[in-house]
Amino acid sequence: MLQLDSIDVSYANGVRALRNVSLTVRPGLFGLLGPNGAGKSSLMRTIATLQRPDRGRIRFGDLDVLADPAALRATLGYLPQEFGLYPSLTAEEILDHFAVLKGLTEPAARRARVDAMLERVNLQDVRHRRVDGFSGGMRQRLGIAIALVASPRLLIVDEPTAGLDPAERHRLLDLLAGVAEEVVVLLSTHLVADVEAVCQRVAILLAGEVVREGTPAELVAPLRGGLWRARLSRDEAAAGRAHPAVISTRLAPGAVVLHATGPTPPTPAYAAIEPDLEDVFFAELARRRQASDAPVASRTPQNY
Ligand SMILES: Nc1ncnc2c1ncn2[C@@H]1O[C@H](COP(=O)(O)OP(=O)(O)O)[C@@H](O)[C@H]1O
Ligand SMILES: [Mg+2]
Repeated sequence: MLQLDSIDVSYANGVRALRNVSLTVRPGLFGLLGPNGAGKSSLMRTIATLQRPDRGRIRFGDLDVLADPAALRATLGYLPQEFGLYPSLTAEEILDHFAVLKGLTEPAARRARVDAMLERVNLQDVRHRRVDGFSGGMRQRLGIAIALVASPRLLIVDEPTAGLDPAERHRLLDLLAGVAEEVVVLLSTHLVADVEAVCQRVAILLAGEVVREGTPAELVAPLRGGLWRARLSRDEAAAGRAHPAVISTRLAPGAVVLHATGPTPPTPAYAAIEPDLEDVFFAELARRRQASDAPVASRTPQNY
């Protein structure tokens, strides 16, 4: 179990990337959901001991991570958001190279481990291909094989699905869900659908703060019975979206779909609907927006 307690992270330019973040990450697949700039990568680098927080405590099992970062690294697999692969090498050569770096020096054992990992991430058929010909999904799967090669107990993967097509995304999420049966996996994403698909627990990070944490069902529960949808023409929507209860708008063919929260429908045009995790996310955004007076969020992927 990974436990974060009151973590603050700031940068030399004055940006406060994380504010008082406390989280408990249990075995299984844990999703860290947040828009660009929310602080996901800062949090993951901090847990991976690549940067030190200004304040707070991190424990992994009995280990005090900040007091003994080397011990954490020995049991960590970390796949950063951006990583380079030697373009002219094959998948097998790269994985073998990282296995040596991780201390797997006995050749037969290393070969067995490399074989097992290539199979695990389903790259065995392309193991002799140069990685500069790999698709984004193949690169990410090789990255996960590298992160897993030394049998970590904690795997941190930073936005692995970004830029993947739907088939590759699902394949990667399935892979991580399988890994999470044995290893604590912390996954960050800006896509609600990713966490909805596979994560047992979720934390929503907005502007450096954890605003919600729990199972997807727990997060959705408070909205049940208090979520409303209206389908309006574009003209009607221009006025309708200004209502303070509106949490999100989405373009549909020839119309605009608005979601609103509250004990009663904001206007007779609204009907009750079942909430999903996306509504939780937009409700939290709306709550913060009310303080800052920003416009209602459009439900396009770029916005989260
Ligand atoms: N090395 C850095 N120096 C200064 N500011 C940074 C640095 N890294 C991230 N930030 C800022 O910290 C905030 C959180 O960034 P980041 O952790 O990358 O968020 P996310 O991964 O959720 O997109 C952003 O405002 C970003 O601009
Ligand atoms: Mg990031």
